[in-house]
Amino acid sequence: MTGQNDNGFTRIQCTVNGVPRSLFIDVRKSLLELLRQDLGLTGTKEGCGVGECGACSVLVDEVLVDSCIYLAVWVDGKAIRTVEGEARDGRLSPVQQAYVEEGAVQCGFCTPGFIMASTSFVEKHQGQEVSADQIRKGHAGNLCRCTGYQNILKAVEKSLKP
Ligand code: FES
Ligand code: FES
Repeated sequence: MTGQNDNGFTRIQCTVNGVPRSLFIDVRKSLLELLRQDLGLTGTKEGCGVGECGACSVLVDEVLVDSCIYLAVWVDGKAIRTVEGEARDGRLSPVQQAYVEEGAVQCGFCTPGFIMASTSFVEKHQGQEVSADQIRKGHAGNLCRCTGYQNILKAVEKSLKP
């Protein structure tokens, strides 16, 4: 991060879905605002705006964060993954594919955040025996107002299989 100017803006470097970015940003901005307003990555959703629902979940250096309560300046020098970067070469990621196959999407508003939480969980536990309780705890920060939890659980179980 270079020095902050008089207007409260500063320059940061980061990668977003593998693409290097040099961004001049308002130091008061959240990562969610940076993604949606500055970069047009509107897949990441704003639900509560206060760190309770997980709709805004993204990965920063592979750590799941609520981007609504994470300052954009904190991603300086870091790698961000959002839902837009998960499909590759026109193919859904294994987690996304499992969500489709298990019907784990209803209105879809919570889905991008859940996909990132599931991706983080699956990448940490791939090939391991995990219980339904562990999967539930791994998604404790994400809320679905359509109450589609059972199918999400099944999708994660499917993604964990080799
Ligand atoms: S919008 Fe960020 S946790 Fe709800
Ligand atoms: S699918 Fe509607 S809020 Fe989760």
